[in-house]
Amino acid sequence: MAFTIALAGKGGTGKTTTAALTVRALRELGAKTVLAVDADPNATLHEALGVEVECSVGEITEEMLNSAEATPGGMSKDAWMEYHIQRYVVEDPEFDLLSMGRPEGAGCYCYANNLIRSCVDDLSRSYAYVVMDNEAGLEHLSRRTTRDVDILLIVSDPSLRGVRTAQRLSELADELGIGIGARYLVINRASPSLDPALLTAVETSGLELLGVVPTDENIAVCDLAGKGLFDLPADSPALIRVKDMIHAAVPAFQHAST
Ligand SMILES: Nc1ncnc2c1ncn2[C@@H]1O[C@H](COP(=O)(O)OP(=O)(O)OP(=O)(O)O)[C@@H](O)[C@H]1O
Ligand SMILES: [Mg+2]
Repeated sequence: MAFTIALAGKGGTGKTTTAALTVRALRELGAKTVLAVDADPNATLHEALGVEVECSVGEITEEMLNSAEATPGGMSKDAWMEYHIQRYVVEDPEFDLLSMGRPEGAGCYCYANNLIRSCVDDLSRSYAYVVMDNEAGLEHLSRRTTRDVDILLIVSDPSLRGVRTAQRLSELADELGIGIGARYLVINRASPSLDPALLTAVETSGLELLGVVPTDENIAVCDLAGKGLFDLPADSPALIRVKDMIHAAVPAFQHAST
């Protein structure tokens, strides 16, 4: 099974940016295969990674639910779904990307959700690492994608309210019954030395601070040029920090030198 790193956090804190930098960090640290999963219906991970997505899992599911009973050649719905999910995985030399898209319309789609989960689980098995970007909140993590993650990175801005929200998200993850190997707080867009009040809030939150990612002008430059974060210069401060964080958090890299 792939080693899964999931991102969570309140809106606009830098989940997608950190997810894309994590994909790059994993590759640069020697990960052989990485699957990026965009589980945010308002998908932007492909932009951060600099690739285009042709079709999302939501669209595939919709087609399946709207299609006549029979699938081509008497294929089971599971096999049909798996075939299409594999077909629409975006392949880049550095990573693969699966975009979950919008959830199905109103009504109970437990069947579809379970099917998606098992197809994504199956797909994940062919990769060494899975990096999952999520929408703000955590419900998605439990509903449509795999339930268990090896590392949950909770991203916060450098504010007291941000850290308290991160703490609540961590509690919510437990209430949802998500199996989490290790969980860490990441403070993004911060100046290198954190305010003492913020450090106290981090201590009170009980969350382990994995790292502080600085505001990095190169990220805006990449964004404005329509480029992904694989085009970020190698000496970009945010990339260097995320690489350090991944090196420290992922057991497979802990005995390897960067
Ligand atoms: N360390 C950073 N330095 C500079 N800009 C950053 C940094 N982190 C994020 N940004 C910028 O901040 C904006 C929000 O980041 P991002 O999209 O990663 O947040 P998000 O948490 O995924 O948002 P959402 O909740 O909408 O999905 C983006 O324009 C991104 O380029
Ligand atoms: Mg995002």
